[in-house]
Formats: sequence, structure tokens, C-alpha cells
Amino acid sequence: MASYKFNLKPKKVAKIRTKHRKIVSSIPPKETVDKIRLMKKYEPESMHMELPVLWNRASGYRIFDTVGNCWIDFCSGIFVTNIGHGHPKILKSIENTLKKPLIHNYYFPSHIRAKLVKKIIEMSPKRLNRVFLLTTGTEATECALKISRIWGKKTNPKKIGIISFEGAMHGKTLGALMVGGKTKEKHWIGKHDPNIHHLPFPFPELCPWAKTKDHKCDGDCFNKSIRFLTKKVKPSSIASIFIESYHGWGALFYPVSYIKALERWAKKNKILIVFDEIQAGFGRTGKMFAFEHYSIIPDIICCGKGISSGLPLSAVIGKKELIDIDPSLNSTHGGNPVCCAAALANLEVIQEENLVSEAKRKGVLLEKELHRIQRIYPLHIRYVTGKGLVYALHIIDPLTHQRDTILVDKIIERCMEKGLLMIRTGLGTIKIGPPLMIPDEALYEGVSVLEEAIREIINFG
Ligand SMILES: Cc1ncc(COP(=O)(O)O)c(C=O)c1O
Repeated sequence: MASYKFNLKPKKVAKIRTKHRKIVSSIPPKETVDKIRLMKKYEPESMHMELPVLWNRASGYRIFDTVGNCWIDFCSGIFVTNIGHGHPKILKSIENTLKKPLIHNYYFPSHIRAKLVKKIIEMSPKRLNRVFLLTTGTEATECALKISRIWGKKTNPKKIGIISFEGAMHGKTLGALMVGGKTKEKHWIGKHDPNIHHLPFPFPELCPWAKTKDHKCDGDCFNKSIRFLTKKVKPSSIASIFIESYHGWGALFYPVSYIKALERWAKKNKILIVFDEIQAGFGRTGKMFAFEHYSIIPDIICCGKGISSGLPLSAVIGKKELIDIDPSLNSTHGGNPVCCAAALANLEVIQEENLVSEAKRKGVLLEKELHRIQRIYPLHIRYVTGKGLVYALHIIDPLTHQRDTILVDKIIERCMEKGLLMIRTGLGTIKIGPPLMIPDEALYEGVSVLEEAIREIINFG
């Protein structure tokens, strides 16, 4: 992915002891380096792209190793632990299931799954009354793709086209990768599906219709993109449009007027709208589902990650007519009872602890702080984008104006040395997404660590 390699030699760093962070050893500690060396003997490099922080336990918004260090988690693992790591209610619910014991029941009925599916549908928009449970996000995408095409073919054998967006992430299995817009990851595919089409993402830097950095990318951009596409593709051949609720790597949201134009066109041409809420759902953006920002109700919603805050469970939600369209839908671990127990407890906590409105409130604080930092480093921070508790700083090289992935890696590595943990997007953004329950004080402290790291790396390398 990136050419920068994180340091794997224990380095002496300043000791830190605050209420929220502890750095008491060299970073990375020798023990971590030894473990990484051992794992690297057996695992692919792709499993060693993230910062060298050994997770021994994780609780709330903090990650602990075995030698006494503790980091503030600014990435919720990988935007998963919306209610925080190891929430007592989730632990209890898992424990109760384990104690029975019940750790597997395939799709034979269970009490816990009955409660979970009822809860998911109660939390979903009214007209979406069916939910199919799976394990990973990518499976949810595959399922939505299959449903779209079976549904489309029922009206017209040629209605199998899928539209999605350049740069979008929908998963890593074959169908999901083809629907997604990450061109670099598709080199091995061979024959590309001619019925999958990608529109430019409506953000000035990425949109061919934008002439200036401040261009609005409104409904007009959608109309132009669709006119361009429909020169070679008939609207009647399109079954569905997949929308990643925000572009993950950059926390980039669509302009509302763009989505409204898209919705009008989709309705006119009887095309399903599928929202990929796998990263965005369950409070992350300050709404229960991120599509609410666009005042739209999708036909199908794909969920994962924050639906359980840690155990592998995903879901495809839609109208009965759609979800029931394929009688062959099933998967060995879909609706696993331990995962269902975690998900049910997770959804209850999101409501009981008002985490959706908390994400919205804290997002306002976070945005203000990030804009303040941008004003200090306007040559390096091109944009601050996001909503709720998902934000991104877009980092550029002031000379070339290109996105600077190496500068990003150096900054997040320095953050790690100071007790703040972030993930690598590999695309020139510093992405911030702490658990929604993070205390304000820890959020501010994390941002001040980030600011310190930016200052040190920009000024001294
Ligand atoms: C928007 C989106 N869709 C799909 C996926 C794939 O989910 P999973 O890794 O659980 O297969 C991801 C994962 O990062 C995602 O962010």
C-alpha cells in the first residue's frame, strides 16, 4: 500500500501519564516487536500494515498492551466499536449465551435471534420490514447485489446493471470489489462485468464537472454524469445504485442536492437505491443511519461493523418483496447466537446511552478543533471533512499539492508514540473515528496529541 514502513526498533520516547493515556516503555516495546516478528513468519504482509501496537485488552475508548502502555482509540478498531470496547452489557449478554451453552445454531430458530431481528426492524425505516443476517460487510454487499439483479431480471431480463461510485468501498470479495470503485484492487479480476458502471464521486477534486476547488457538485453534477453514462447504457437496464453513505477513506459526504437528483432519476426509472451503511450506520455520523442526512429512504440497507460493536455480524434490511426474492439466501455463521447476543446488547446501549445524539454533539466539538488546526497548517491540511464522530484531515504536500501518504504515516506514528491510536487509510487522510462514548476530555486530549504530532512532524520531520 504505502512505501513508508513504521519503525520496528524500540525507540526511547517521552514518558506520558495522564488519566487517558500511558506511555511507559520504548515504542514499540521490545515485546511487541518480538510478537510481530513471530507473526510475520506466518502471516501475509497485508496483516501488518497497521501501527505496531499490541492489543492485550481494550475497554471503552482505550487500548492496553502488556507492558503498561495505554492508547486513546481514535479509530474504534476499524470503525466498529461504536459503543466502546468490551461494554459490560455486551460482555454479560455474550456470557449468558456461552453459559447456556449455545455457540452455534445455524438458521435453526433461537430466542436471541428472534429478539435481535425484531429490534433491528424497529430501528429501521418503517417500510423496511425484513432483515437477513450474515457475518461480514462484504457478504451483505454480495447479497444486495444478488437481490438487485434477481429483482431487476423479473421485470426485464436485461435489467441487471449496477451503478456505484469511483473510489467507493463495498467489500473485498469478488462481487463487492467489482461494485466498489477501488480500481487498483481489481487488477486480478480478469473480465470486468460490463453491467457495472461507476460515476465520479461528487467532490470538487474528484468530479470532472467541477472547475474550481469550491465547486458545489450539486444535482447538476449528477445530471451531467448520468447523461454521460446513458449515452451508452439504457436507464431501463439498471437494477440498482449502490451508495456508500460517505466515502470511507476521506469521510466525504455527498451534497444533499446530488442525492436528491439521484433519487428522482432512480424513481423515474424504477431503480433500487442501496445504501452501504456498513461503516456509517448505528450512530457514527450523528444519525442512526447516515442516509438520514440526505432525507432519503433506501430500498435496501447493508449493515455491519457498528451493528454489534465487535463480533462478526452483518445485515441486509429491505422490504419483504426484496429480501424474500432469493430463497437460497443462507450462510453457515449468519445469525450466530453469540454474535446476535452482542448485537442486541449493542443496539440497546446505543439507545440507552443516547449515543446517536452524543456523536452529533461531540462531532461539533471535533469539527471546531480540526478547523482550528487547519487554520494553523493551511498549506498541509487541504480539507477537513466529516460529520458526527467520523472526520478526516486531507493532508497534502505544499509543494506538489498532491496527497501526502508518507506525511500522514509519520504523523500517525508520532501519535502512537504519544498514546493516540489511528488507522492508515493509505490515501493521504488522517481519519478520526473514536468510540461514540469517548468522554469530551479524552476527545480534546486526543486532538491535542494529534496537533502536537502534526507540529513536530511538519517542523522537524
Ligand atoms: C463502507 C464499507 N462497506 C463494506 C465493507 C466491508 O466490510 P467487511 O470488512 O466486514 O467485509 C467496509 C469495510 O471497511 C466498509 O467500510
